[in-house]
Order: sequence, then C-alpha cells, then structure tokens
Amino acid sequence: MPKRPKITIVGGGNVGSSCALWAASKELGDIVVLDIPQAENAIKGKMLDLAQASPVERFDCKITGTANYEDIQGSDVVVITAGLPRKPGMSRDDLVEVNVKIVRSVAENVKKYAPDSIVVVVSNPLDAMVYTAWKATGFPTHRIVGQAGCLDVARYRTFIAMELGVSVEDISALLLGGHGDDMVPLPRYTSVHGIPVSQLLSAEKINACVERAKVGGGEIVKLLGTSAYYAPASGVIQMVEAIVKDKKRILPCAAYCEDLYGVAPGSKGAGYFVGVPCVLGEGGVEKVIQVDLDPAEKTLMDTSITHVKELVGVVRKLYPDLA
Ligand code: 2OP
Repeated sequence: MPKRPKITIVGGGNVGSSCALWAASKELGDIVVLDIPQAENAIKGKMLDLAQASPVERFDCKITGTANYEDIQGSDVVVITAGLPRKPGMSRDDLVEVNVKIVRSVAENVKKYAPDSIVVVVSNPLDAMVYTAWKATGFPTHRIVGQAGCLDVARYRTFIAMELGVSVEDISALLLGGHGDDMVPLPRYTSVHGIPVSQLLSAEKINACVERAKVGGGEIVKLLGTSAYYAPASGVIQMVEAIVKDKKRILPCAAYCEDLYGVAPGSKGAGYFVGVPCVLGEGGVEKVIQVDLDPAEKTLMDTSITHVKELVGVVRKLYPDLA
C-alpha cells in the first residue's frame, strides 16, 4: 500500500507556517509543524486553521501542530526553520551565535526521532546552519541540504522578468555560492525561453538584476521589519516536492562539496555546504553538478566560498565538538 509522505517542519513562525501552507496546497503529504512548548497552543491553532481550509482548497493531508518531538517519528523529510529572523540593520551572519544553539538542539532531536529523514535546513546564516545540522545529526551528506539557492534564483528570475516584461516562467537561471550578499547569480547561464539573456537586455540592466538579487533578502527586511517568508517557504517546498515525488529536479541547493568547485580538494570529510546545482530526488542530494566557470565567475565563487568557510569557523569556535 502506498503511504503518504510525512513532512515535518520545525519552527512554526512565518517561514514554517508558510511552508505548511504551500505543502498542503500542493498536497505533498501529511504535515507536522513543531514549535517550542511556549508556542504549542498557537501552532496547534494555526494548523487546525489550515486543516479547515482543506475542504475548500481540496487537499487531503493530515495536519498536526505540536511541541512534542515524538510526533515527528517516521518523517520522510524534516525542514528546519527554527531560529531568529533578521531585524533591520542585521546581516544573516549576526544570527550565528543564537541560531547555532537552536539548530544544534533541533538536529539532535531529529537524529533521535526521525533518523531516516532527509533534512532541509532554512535557518540563517544558512550555510553554517546546514553544516551544524550535518555535524549534530551525523547523517550522510546526501540527506542534509540547505535551502537558499531556490529562493535566491527565484528573486533573480523575478527581477529579470520584471525588467523584460515577460513571464517569470520563461526565465531559467543558475546561481551559485553561499546565501550571503556575495552569492553568485550567473548571467552567462541565464536564458529566456532558451534565448541568452544577453541578447535581450543590456549588460547594465542584467547587472542591476544581479545586484538586486544579491541583497534581495535585505530589501525585504528593510520594508517589512523582519525576514521574508513567502518566497523562502516556496523555495523550501520546491525542494520538498522534488524529494517526495522523486522528481530528480536540478535545483540550486546548499549541498556538501568535497573536491567540487575547488572546495576541499583531496581532503576526505573536510568539505563544506555551498550553493551548487544538485539533482534532488528520493535519495536527497543524488548528485552535484559541476559547471564550467570562467575566471571572473570563479573569482566570485571563491569569494563566496571563503565567506562560507569563515562562518563555519565561527560555529567550530563556539562548539569545538562540531568541528
Ligand atoms: C532571505 O534571504 C530569509 O534569508 C532569507 O530572505
């Protein structure tokens, strides 16, 4: 008998709740949203509210709000959104000390209660939090992946589509690197229904879209007073859908790189999670795709990787046992 996938979302804030909404509306499986004990009633209420939309929106999913880790048992995918969001004036990196503690504790519970799950990390600073979840769960690297590229490339595609006045659906693009302001959108790998974007937009306009995408998270924080959530959650659910439907989608994700993109050449187990194109399916990250970079692109990628390494260095300093 086929069983419905079970999707757990840890953290019932704006991102977690939006993940539940997108996942339910796409009928991806049964959904558990877990929050801290102080927020137990609130998350139960939110999820009951979401369940009551199902007769109208026509999705059949069991939706549970909880503060009890026993409820995540049997999860196929666990999404970690727990942690503090940014406030205006903060960079993602400013969250590292407080969020590493939270993500570590969540990951330890995931290891205990959902040992066979695939973990999708969303908490910031993303690249360091994926590393933290990897070390704290001890899961194989193909079952730990971070969401950032799906969001970042969606922002970039949105800006290109707005500039051209064409459908966002027709913009295809590639973006590499960490989830910081030095992420690397790649115009050379950007096309509009197969037409290289350079044939349709001036270098200046493309560059404006690249630069806006790089600071796209900060633009929202400034306007909203807190971090974005609809698009981040949508990026998460794009990944979850690829996993639970075994779609083998090629998506930009923070995946473990060793001897790839110049990360940790020849050093076993000493790699880093960096945004790269991956094949996502039922096995999690089934493959990392290495693309050719010209010297200028490689320099940008190297800068972004250096930043990721520095952030992981902060985690290792705070928690030497995670080194
Ligand atoms: C963003 O870029 C929340 O990091 C996320 O909006």
